Amino acid sequence: MSEQSAVPGGPAAVGGLRTLGIDHVGVAVPDLDEAVERYRGLGLEVSHREENPAMGVQEAMLSSPTGVGTELQLVAPLGPHSAIGRFLDRSGPGLQHLALRVADVDDAARTLRGRGLRLLYDAPRIGTRGTRINFVHPKDCGGVLIELVEQVDAV
Ligand code: CO
Repeated sequence: MSEQSAVPGGPAAVGGLRTLGIDHVGVAVPDLDEAVERYRGLGLEVSHREENPAMGVQEAMLSSPTGVGTELQLVAPLGPHSAIGRFLDRSGPGLQHLALRVADVDDAARTLRGRGLRLLYDAPRIGTRGTRINFVHPKDCGGVLIELVEQVDAV
């Protein structure tokens, strides 16, 4: 018997992290409506929109009409003091984070902390569509802000 499961997300998944796939790519934008129009012009459709005051953001999820590929998340600040507002001040609009879908965000955070990686939040927060999320510090991930996303519905 192999020590590592061949089943994605199986109990002995590679590296001890049960990652199911790339969930979405996050892009920081100053104006959500304007950005939505830009990406509609690139052939994507809005699949979901919401405000998340606790995270200080308004956001839209876009996907291709065929359902092929991962989603794009456009994230705009609700106010100047949100994390995304500070990101825009510091770096301007553009690619902001890469989200990995994990089977269990608590489990993933524990595993990564055990390797000395820093997580942005002590406990998971609520993200798009009620997902449970946390972030790995970009300085511990080669300059990329990694979001960990656990779906709450059946995948
Ligand atoms: Co995200």
